[in-house]
Amino acid sequence: MSEQEHNADVITIDGPSGSGKGTISRLLANKLHWHFLDSGALYRLVGLAARNHAIAFDDEEALATLAAHLDVEFGADEDADETHIFLEGEEVSSVIRSEEAGNDASRVAAVQAVRDALYQRQRAFLRPPGLIADGRDMGTVIFPDARLKIFLTASLEERARRRYKQLKEKGLNANLSALLDELAQRDARDKNRSAAPLVPAADAVSIDTSDLSIDAVVAEVYGRWQRIQQA
Ligand code: DC
Repeated sequence: MSEQEHNADVITIDGPSGSGKGTISRLLANKLHWHFLDSGALYRLVGLAARNHAIAFDDEEALATLAAHLDVEFGADEDADETHIFLEGEEVSSVIRSEEAGNDASRVAAVQAVRDALYQRQRAFLRPPGLIADGRDMGTVIFPDARLKIFLTASLEERARRRYKQLKEKGLNANLSALLDELAQRDARDKNRSAAPLVPAADAVSIDTSDLSIDAVVAEVYGRWQRIQQA
């Protein structure tokens, strides 16, 4: 079903780790009173479930089965800064935010069968009045008909600094130079994989957030959405 048939609009926010996608998407969803899809969380959950069930990261068939049957629940507190996420009944909201979980996510996300298994689950987040979809392939694969597609970027150094600050604020371990290396590796894996690589959709608006405040980026995207509606 298309976005129009659902009577729900969608704004896609794609970009690399640390580009500000998560924060900006959440703020936009609150501002518009729309739903929010954190698609990266789904890949992080598949990675965690694979570890919990001792499934090897090169066992594509087992990973796809796991993704198709993932027992996950997103808390209904959509206004909160962080959604509570449960995997097989256990709260894993913080666990999936570690750098290790991000790397595991990036590895399982390179498996096309895993992406296929998560396709419908992501589409199901589209409900009236609208959806802010945060990820890597929201505008290219999951919601290609979106009327507004944003691609956020920022320099590697700035993204590493942001991740460092975020992790410290959460009381998690962080090392800036290790983060720089990990982000560079994750970028390379996400961009160079054959399955839905991280690329801007042809009709996406790119915004470099390196020197912009969060509020400025939110205002820019919100303004663009208002202009589209008025057109
Ligand atoms: O946005 P994030 O850091 O939570 O994403 C974790 C990993 O999941 C990221 O390195 C690549 C993958 N991912 C993806 O391939 N497609 C998405 N739509 C979202 C995330």
